[in-house]
Amino acid sequence: MIAGVFALATSTVSAQYLNQSAPFALILISDNDTVNGSALIACHEGAAIEGLCIGAVVVGAPTTAYTFNYSAAETVDPAIGVTGLLTYELSGGNFNVSSPMELVYNPASNVAVPLLTPSENGQEVAFDDQNMLAIAQYIDDTLAGSPNPYNPKLLYRWYVCTTYEGYTYQTLAWVLGNGTPQNPTCVKVDVLRVFS
Ligand SMILES: *[C@@H]1O[C@H](CO)[C@@H](O)[C@H](O)[C@H]1NC(C)=O
Ligand SMILES: *[C@@H]1O[C@H](CO)[C@@H](O)[C@H](O)[C@H]1NC(C)=O
Ligand SMILES: *[C@@H]1O[C@H](CO)[C@@H](O)[C@H](O)[C@H]1NC(C)=O
Ligand SMILES: *[C@@H]1O[C@H](CO)[C@@H](O)[C@H](O)[C@H]1NC(C)=O
Ligand SMILES: *[C@@H]1O[C@H](CO)[C@@H](O)[C@H](O)[C@H]1NC(C)=O
Repeated sequence: MIAGVFALATSTVSAQYLNQSAPFALILISDNDTVNGSALIACHEGAAIEGLCIGAVVVGAPTTAYTFNYSAAETVDPAIGVTGLLTYELSGGNFNVSSPMELVYNPASNVAVPLLTPSENGQEVAFDDQNMLAIAQYIDDTLAGSPNPYNPKLLYRWYVCTTYEGYTYQTLAWVLGNGTPQNPTCVKVDVLRVFS
């Protein structure tokens, strides 16, 4: 059974996600009043690379449009729902290219930084029935050694932190594992999808 789960997890990495949702904004929900209600704005981190930066809390202010790319062909785990890629369309003078979100890891930290980079692959994400952005857990390594470490559920380990991917910005971040972020600037958030 475990082997089958690994096979499934591996096969989905190279899946194509060509069904695309309507565009939406990403809004931060937080107990922190400064952060609560801010939009996530695509911000320049390098050539054709965007971070997800915290924008101003101005109702009606222009914000970045994202889409959710998924596959209608996929079998859905009821504990997870539909998974796919969070995508942003990078537009240049004479091109448009789909840029999915991927997580960039620093082995010295438990804080990973999502970046939007032109690619066909990225980090698989899901939106729950409250439109909250999540990442799926399949194998739970805190249960390693027990008869069944397969524990599918959605995780919401989102923060905004001062990060250093190309520029020093306050960006969305993902904390690895079930501990607290070692980066002292991190503020806990959830990420809400709001269709325009
Ligand atoms: C997302 O879907 C659109 C529409 O099918 C497609 O043009 C785009 O390449 C897809 N992006 C990725 C990263 O698969
Ligand atoms: C996914 O895309 C295919 C091909 O365009 C279409 O036939 C199908 O209805 C779409 N499914 C959903 C759930 O949007
Ligand atoms: C966050 O903002 C929403 C509306 O934008 C509000 O309903 C909610 O009470 C706020 N939460 C906190 C903790 O201030
Ligand atoms: C709220 O967030 C702001 C912006 O990140 C930060 O400067 C401030 O320290 C946070 N407040 C608390 C109580 O964490
Ligand atoms: C890129 O997308 C925009 C908005 O959808 C569109 O107006 C423009 O014509 C596209 N450019 C190219 C080169 O396809």
